[in-house]
Amino acid sequence: MIEKYLNKIICGDCCQILQEIPDNSIDLTLTSPPYFCQREYGGGGIGNEPKVEDYISNLMTIFRQCVRITKKTGTIVFNLGDKYIDGNLLLVPYRFAIEVQKDNIVKLINELTWVKVNPAPKQCAKKLIPATEPFFIFAKTDDYYFNKDAFLEYRDKYLNGGKKKAGNDVGKKYYELIDKSDLSKEEKEQAKKELNEVIMEAMQGKIESFRMKIRGLHALPYGGQAGGRLTQIENKGFTIIKIYGNSIRKDIIESNVETIKGNIHPAVYPEFIIQELLKLLTKEGDVVLDPFLGSGTTAVVAQRLKRKYIGIEIHSEYVSYAENRIKQNADNHTLDMFI
Ligand SMILES: C[S@@+](CC[C@H](N)C(=O)[O-])C[C@H]1O[C@@H](n2cnc3c(N)ncnc32)[C@H](O)[C@@H]1O
Repeated sequence: MIEKYLNKIICGDCCQILQEIPDNSIDLTLTSPPYFCQREYGGGGIGNEPKVEDYISNLMTIFRQCVRITKKTGTIVFNLGDKYIDGNLLLVPYRFAIEVQKDNIVKLINELTWVKVNPAPKQCAKKLIPATEPFFIFAKTDDYYFNKDAFLEYRDKYLNGGKKKAGNDVGKKYYELIDKSDLSKEEKEQAKKELNEVIMEAMQGKIESFRMKIRGLHALPYGGQAGGRLTQIENKGFTIIKIYGNSIRKDIIESNVETIKGNIHPAVYPEFIIQELLKLLTKEGDVVLDPFLGSGTTAVVAQRLKRKYIGIEIHSEYVSYAENRIKQNADNHTLDMFI
């Protein structure tokens, strides 16, 4: 039964605890395992293997468990960092992603790139400062939940200045242009009918705005080459291009490296990125698991967005810290800014 794990942080080794979680019970696993050769967390040993191949193999054992417990509509997100050994960049995250692909049990849906606005300024005369990290998004089936409009939706709000609905005089110029045009009587009537409909859509906020092209008055679309709009202009005398307000969703997210006052954990990922991934991949009431919970970021954001969380963390000091963070997380506001 999954219920006994909900909204809890379990102190222990995720290699063991994941085995107790029932099949097909998790909507989203979102996690950042210890990076290869980065730091000593104590306990489980993940990240401190002598060879990168052993590290990937240990990660794969955990990943396969994550796949087993994920629902058919669910997704798994792993965030990994890279490592230089003897001046050579190992491409650790990509080695992992390729190993996952060999298993052929999930599909890689996206590689979301975190662009660090303030990367650690490690000085190295003959290297640029690494400022990106991947979040690999894997799905178990093609039926995965994916709310693209919710991802970075605040941008639409601000980019449109919050002005979703068109004013009363929208489209007025097009009535005058239709009257002035050489369209036949029937074509003019049809043009005004469709213009009325699109004006209603704009005033109701269903579309942000529109453009109309009328035969003989406007330049032909696509430089006058054959195509759907050109055909419309030829056949009925006009075409209407609807403009939707949503900005396109790219596989990039910008965020500062997280700094939380008094935080005892050395590798916290940004609440903002976790918030956007939860909005993209889950809905209210869904179950979100982080098998390497650390300071509790995944659980804190899940609670704020009314998702259920399960956290696993091997280090008891971090478990206590995460529990405190969750208690103090009374403030339910979402984070609107990306830096
Ligand atoms: C990169 S940190 C995660 C940080 C987290 N995303 C946050 O925002 O605080 C990885 C965490 O995994 C924990 N850990 C390492 N091996 C583990 C294991 N076998 N089972 C559970 N937790 C483990 C470490 O103690 C560490 O806190």
